[in-house]
Amino acid sequence: MKAVILAGGFATRLRPLSCSRPKTLFPIINKPLLQWIFEGLATNEIKEAVLAVNALTQFHIKQQKPPRYGLKIKYTIDPPKTPLGTAGPIKNAEKIIGHEEPFVVLNGDIFADINYKQLIDTHIKTDALATIALCKVDDPCRYGVAELENGNRIKNFIEKPAKGQAPTNLINAGVYVLSPKVFDYIPKGKQCSIEREVFPVLAKEHKLFGHMTDGLWMDIGKPEEYILTNKIILDNLIMANKLKPLKKSETKSPVAIDKGVVIGKKTVVGPYAILGKNVIVGDNVQIRNSVIFPDVKICDNVTIDGAIIGEGAIIGKNAQINKGCVIADQVKIKDNINLTEDFAVCPAKEISETILKRNIIC
Ligand code: GTP
Repeated sequence: MKAVILAGGFATRLRPLSCSRPKTLFPIINKPLLQWIFEGLATNEIKEAVLAVNALTQFHIKQQKPPRYGLKIKYTIDPPKTPLGTAGPIKNAEKIIGHEEPFVVLNGDIFADINYKQLIDTHIKTDALATIALCKVDDPCRYGVAELENGNRIKNFIEKPAKGQAPTNLINAGVYVLSPKVFDYIPKGKQCSIEREVFPVLAKEHKLFGHMTDGLWMDIGKPEEYILTNKIILDNLIMANKLKPLKKSETKSPVAIDKGVVIGKKTVVGPYAILGKNVIVGDNVQIRNSVIFPDVKICDNVTIDGAIIGEGAIIGKNAQINKGCVIADQVKIKDNINLTEDFAVCPAKEISETILKRNIIC
């Protein structure tokens, strides 16, 4: 069984952090999301994954080389000036996938505990051309919403319905099984959306089915969702005994601390602080509800709460970084700076004055 991982989007909602790394390489508890995805596929006996990317994403993935858990990896690359959307890259992978058996497609930006084997079984038992993993959410309007009829057939599929117009709260989990016949529904070399241009047609032809899943499902599309995903996975890992709670005096559980981290005196890391490799934290610092990427330097007397700090950033003495702040890679925040809520800084910028209104500095 093969899988296509869609990973060539532009992650606009995660800018400016996504300016220097694709969404699928964002760390979840210090492991790139793609590594978690590979692991999930491999444990479900999927042998080969096609990464549907653009040239830049391919470059980053090849540089980072996440472990593959025995999966054979191939790439398909969108043409330089034509992002192919969510269906075009599937057509682009037609030769590699072949026409022998159904295959799995998944978005490279979701953290989903999905039993692919069960999903595939459901697909095979019906006359579906596509079977979508469905999960229940409180606010379905940001997603593709499925309306079911008897036997889990999807009679209507609506991508991002207007507020109050969603017929159900069952959404496309961003994982589905397709039969090779679906290649005939996608134009070659053109941008095409599986959610807007293919699923609604299949629903009309009675060839679209749903498969309910109740495992953990998280979308990392927005900064607050990315932090929340890290927090939930951290709790889960500790509960499952896969991550030992740290009992150091300077940490307040739960926390995840990678190799080479140095923590100063009178500092409190946690709860819910995730520190990447080689992060250096000074004295009297407070870090909570935040994800700190590798190689960040945090000087004395800093407070960080509810923020994401990109790789190699330097946070000067006495700085305060508040909820919703997104500091991109290699940014330098000078001493005594207070950054208001939801403030974002583009890569390699230097911030030398306090900013009290929501803003993005590029
Ligand atoms: P936003 O701009 O923040 O909406 O992010 P996105 O477009 O990267 O992600 P979205 O949730 O819209 O897309 C779902 C999945 O499809 C993600 O894993 C994307 O990487 C992937 N994707 C979206 N557009 C393309 C594309 O044009 N080409 C390829 N190869 N993948 C895509």
